[in-house]
Amino acid sequence: MSGPLVFAHRGSSAALPEHTLAAYLRALKEGADGLECDVRLTRDGHLVCVHDRRLDRTSNGRGKVSARTLAELEALDFGSWHPGCGPDADEPVDPARTRLLTLERLLDAVHGAGRPVRLLIETKHPTRYGGNVERRLVDVLRRYGLTEQGPDDPVRVTVMSFSPLAVRRTRELAPTLPTVLLLDTLPGWLRLGRLPFGARIAGPGIALVRSRPWLVPTLRAAGHQVYVWTVNEPDDVDLVLAAGVDGIITDRPALALARRG
Ligand code: G3P
Ligand code: CA
Repeated sequence: MSGPLVFAHRGSSAALPEHTLAAYLRALKEGADGLECDVRLTRDGHLVCVHDRRLDRTSNGRGKVSARTLAELEALDFGSWHPGCGPDADEPVDPARTRLLTLERLLDAVHGAGRPVRLLIETKHPTRYGGNVERRLVDVLRRYGLTEQGPDDPVRVTVMSFSPLAVRRTRELAPTLPTVLLLDTLPGWLRLGRLPFGARIAGPGIALVRSRPWLVPTLRAAGHQVYVWTVNEPDDVDLVLAAGVDGIITDRPALALARRG
């Protein structure tokens, strides 16, 4: 493979409901090099793959994810809001398209893929559970043997956050785990291209990359890799390919893979 890694953002989430097992399995089938997910803690301490703080957009529930137990979330439908959920013809809806995905179920699926898979896990902040999110995440990753990874390991995890403190916590808890500092605005210190707290990888949004052509070369010249999100349009895929980024995070992995060639 030459060119950047292609990561499926919340799975193949243009085609299927985001953060469902079906969306991730589809991304693997499409040939994505890796998967991206967001994690939040439930009231009883489980990590679940949900982007929003609230349940309202992506499920038939209401209120905050953090206020519910895992059992309560398991009872909700996380797929029917999406046009790709189905059912196809007279088929019943596949539960993989509607069921809540826990981080552990995602890790099991990635391990079962039978080929190398990269996994980007984003911890969401602010949250009432603060640093417990990273502590719990590192516990789970350690249990799966993923905190000390070698270049030949089939499953390799990178932890991401928009919160520099969350990145620092991850570095303290698991110093060899790669980290991405996500960026949706341009902090003053970034002009020098250096990231704080030992983050190895920069994660700017596509809008930043589009409006600041100097950004990717500056970050790379400072020794950082660059993963750009969320790159869904053909022109944007071409732009980041031409810029020489290291990772493309996209809702449409098949499109990005086809353009990467
Ligand atoms: O991959 C990074 C990207 O997911 C950050 O934004 O809002 O989609 O989590 P968001
Ligand atoms: Ca994310």
